[in-house]
Amino acid sequence: MQLTPLTDRPDLNLYQQVAERMEAAIQDGTLQPGDRLPSVRKLHRQLSVSISTVLEAYRLLEDRGLIQARPQSGYYVKPTALSSPPEPMPYAPPEQARRVDNSLAFQLMQAIRQPGAVQLGAAVPAMELLPLKSLNRLMGQVLRDDPVQAHSYDVPPGCEPLRQAVARRLMDAGCAIAPDQIVTTNGTFEGVYLSLMAVTQPGDTVAIESPTYYGLLEALESLHLKALELPTNPRDGLCLEALEAVLKRQQVQVCAIVSNFSNPLGSCMDDGKKQQLVALMNRYDKPLIEDDIYGDLHFGPTRPKAIKAFDTEGLVLYCSSYSKTLSPGLRVGWSVAGRYQAQVEQLKWVMNQTTAIAPQLTVAAFLANGGYDRHLRHLRRLYQSHMAKMTQAVCEYFPLQTRLTRPEGGHVLWVELPQEISAMALHKAALERGISIAPGVIFSPSRSYENCLRLNTSSPWTPELEKAMATLGLLIHEQRVNV
Ligand SMILES: Cc1ncc(COP(=O)(O)O)c(C=O)c1O
Repeated sequence: MQLTPLTDRPDLNLYQQVAERMEAAIQDGTLQPGDRLPSVRKLHRQLSVSISTVLEAYRLLEDRGLIQARPQSGYYVKPTALSSPPEPMPYAPPEQARRVDNSLAFQLMQAIRQPGAVQLGAAVPAMELLPLKSLNRLMGQVLRDDPVQAHSYDVPPGCEPLRQAVARRLMDAGCAIAPDQIVTTNGTFEGVYLSLMAVTQPGDTVAIESPTYYGLLEALESLHLKALELPTNPRDGLCLEALEAVLKRQQVQVCAIVSNFSNPLGSCMDDGKKQQLVALMNRYDKPLIEDDIYGDLHFGPTRPKAIKAFDTEGLVLYCSSYSKTLSPGLRVGWSVAGRYQAQVEQLKWVMNQTTAIAPQLTVAAFLANGGYDRHLRHLRRLYQSHMAKMTQAVCEYFPLQTRLTRPEGGHVLWVELPQEISAMALHKAALERGISIAPGVIFSPSRSYENCLRLNTSSPWTPELEKAMATLGLLIHEQRVNV
């Protein structure tokens, strides 16, 4: 196999360039399933890179499910390397604003979190991968260093050291934000909730992605807001032409989306589309609520920018938290509400005065000690590999007609099963066998996506998970023969 020298791509590490080169050879058929890859020594000589760079590249390809090592023989292209299921086509939901009734999601999520079940339903991080020991130690230290502070009243915008640390980190998302533009919240959810309250009146309509995070639907229901589902592409999210059409008809008051590695589709807009979206909202002078909870969990070399990075008029209300990367239980989140900051601060004060101080100081201390980037690098690499394993299991156990997303970050996969399959029936049958999944209907106010489901991919791959995926495959098969 002839290889041209590596090109200079400053956005990729050397081992990623090598991996890309080999992946391209697999994709274009130069290397076929079952073929042996060039030996580590040969590639090291051919590309003039170190042996450890080649090994690292091969490990990355293993993580992506493309190659496998055979003891004393070398690396081979996996037989299943090219058999990833096709991606779902862009979704076109019913064009109608509707009141939301998401009580089903509440019932289902309680069932899905059933203790002891194989947890594929809730989009929770793998707790064993979070730096809980360090966080616990830091919380002890915070309480010892100032035994009174954590027990005192505080006022919005919240804990100063945390806001300073968040402002520094937001530079990675392309945002130049001062600490006093940040309001700390109880997780992303509260940020989104307060943002909705700040920019809407009961009865207003909110433009949303379809499918969307069911928590957003619960917030809309609770605030007596209507939802207007817009066509959404599993790769790059919301259709801007459709958004423009509803803005033109003055049908919506605000748009609310998950910008990077959305839940449940895993979609991510490129910078150009983010810029166009901001320009569109500016043109119609309407606010945009951006939920960027998964932005730090990118598999590629650089963090995708926030939409907020392109905000020129203060119309973007940016919300995020450390629930997916450090601890969901500490409930440490924040909002940057632009021109709506005063309203958000006042609403926060009315709702619960402030976020608990000890968790905020603990996260601030963790961010300050420099361990966050190292932790993220580790977490991202594992999440990418877990997602690749889950993708392979879908290939192996689910019907051929299955479609599957290919997110480049986060930890959820969206599965579109053959049309005749009911994911609700599958959810019930799976729960009886101790497996939880999230059926598609809870991600849409029109209860669309009956044949779809969301899988959480954060957990390390185990024989128990493999068995759970095989069982799901069997249950789907049983449903097919019974319809
Ligand atoms: C897209 C999205 N937004 C918000 C949340 C809730 O975040 P938090 O726990 O920080 O309130 C989740 C949790 O799953 C989520 O997936």
